[in-house]
Amino acid sequence: MRFKLKIKFVITLLLSFLLVSCTKKEPSPYIPYLSISELMQWVIDPAADRIWDSVAWYSTLKGEKMVAPHSQADWDELRNSAATLMEASNLLMIDQRAKDNGAWNTYARALGLEAKKTLSAVQAKDVQAVFDTGTAIDAACEACHQKYAYFGTNGSDKH
Ligand code: HEC
Repeated sequence: MRFKLKIKFVITLLLSFLLVSCTKKEPSPYIPYLSISELMQWVIDPAADRIWDSVAWYSTLKGEKMVAPHSQADWDELRNSAATLMEASNLLMIDQRAKDNGAWNTYARALGLEAKKTLSAVQAKDVQAVFDTGTAIDAACEACHQKYAYFGTNGSDKH
């Protein structure tokens, strides 16, 4: 009986050890080279600006004018910007940057998903869709900023 108890104890000990060693978190392999602020200013904002500036309508003395991508180089640049935002959404979610395990990742993922729609619009060379998906990207930026970024007392965005 006593021996059985001992065996039980040893088995329990072994099992708990296994459980602990299996669930132990490996250290993150990522190195966050940029602060969130730098990532925003140097990677995310320039890429978003290129998308937002690519399609526009404005009035001149000679009437309505439209800015839109024309050459293949224009489209390629837009593709690269959409791709940058898609992958930047992952950069925001790496352990050392994520502010929490819930809403932050939801907002970051939303940015990637909206940017993916821009990529599809670019691949279809659909100017109106580039504009529309650009607006959705803006909303994704704003949503996260409203919860996690404080841009002064009026709460407005910097861009
Ligand atoms: C998942 C959350 C999140 C998303 C999505 C996000 N941001 Fe940010 N952003 C932040 C946080 C947090 C800060 C404040 C960083 C700080 O001051 O440390 C910030 C700051 C900024 C800044 C100011 C940087 C500075 O220090 O001057 C700009 C510009 C900016 N974001 C642009 C964007 C744009 C453009 C997008 C969308 C294309 C975007 N952000 C999407 C979280 C986010």
